[in-house]
Amino acid sequence: MSSEKIIIAIDGYSSSGKSTMARRLAKTIGYRYIDSGAMYRAVTLYAMRNGMINSDGSVATDMLTAALPAIHIDFKVQGDGQQTMLNGEIVESEIRTLEVSNHVSPVATIPAVRHALVRMQRDMGESKGIVMDGRDIGTIVFPAAEMKVFCNATPERRAERRYKELREKGADVTYEEVLANVTERDHIDMTRKESPLRCADDAVMLDNSAMTIDEQNEWLLRLFHSIVDK
Ligand code: CDP
Repeated sequence: MSSEKIIIAIDGYSSSGKSTMARRLAKTIGYRYIDSGAMYRAVTLYAMRNGMINSDGSVATDMLTAALPAIHIDFKVQGDGQQTMLNGEIVESEIRTLEVSNHVSPVATIPAVRHALVRMQRDMGESKGIVMDGRDIGTIVFPAAEMKVFCNATPERRAERRYKELREKGADVTYEEVLANVTERDHIDMTRKESPLRCADDAVMLDNSAMTIDEQNEWLLRLFHSIVDK
């Protein structure tokens, strides 16, 4: 088996199970896991807290762009998990609300936001040994990643999973609201000008609509070994 560490890029649609399988794989193989979506969510939370989301839901792009140097995002490893930090504050649960989900995709269309976060993501992958999930990891952030996966499942299945997750956390949301958010984010993510969501030519596609979490973890681990054990 080769001991060379690689870069693993896992992209896909909203709530397609990317983070769950990426996190598990990273733990199993001893790599660092980075949830790039959490970074876009943290920037969105900052914008919401600082009056940079207009009443019609649009983003005060110039204000947010000017504030970018003052936004510091980091991850704190804690036990088995990872906590997203925004300017030194743990915001892991704040960034997972439906309210943040409703504003994040417009924020993620802003080129200056993307450039700042992509720069940070590339720095994190400099010494390899990383699993990163998102929308543009295999296409823009790490086009030379040795392993690329593109995840999908039906919108209904994805909304069902996210609805369950939010309800378990005690959020007062309906399935219809979650489904609307999932489909709206897919649309914005696929049609934006700057690095739209698309499957890299050399990515392996996975439709996990009918897979359990264990099945998708096993699938991913097998793919990893088929690449590094050559
Ligand atoms: O809810 P889910 O886990 O599917 O999404 P996420 O990975 O937390 O990402 C939230 C949002 O951030 C996405 O809908 C995209 O608009 C944006 N994003 C992006 O543009 N590029 C990335 N690499 C990751 C996320």
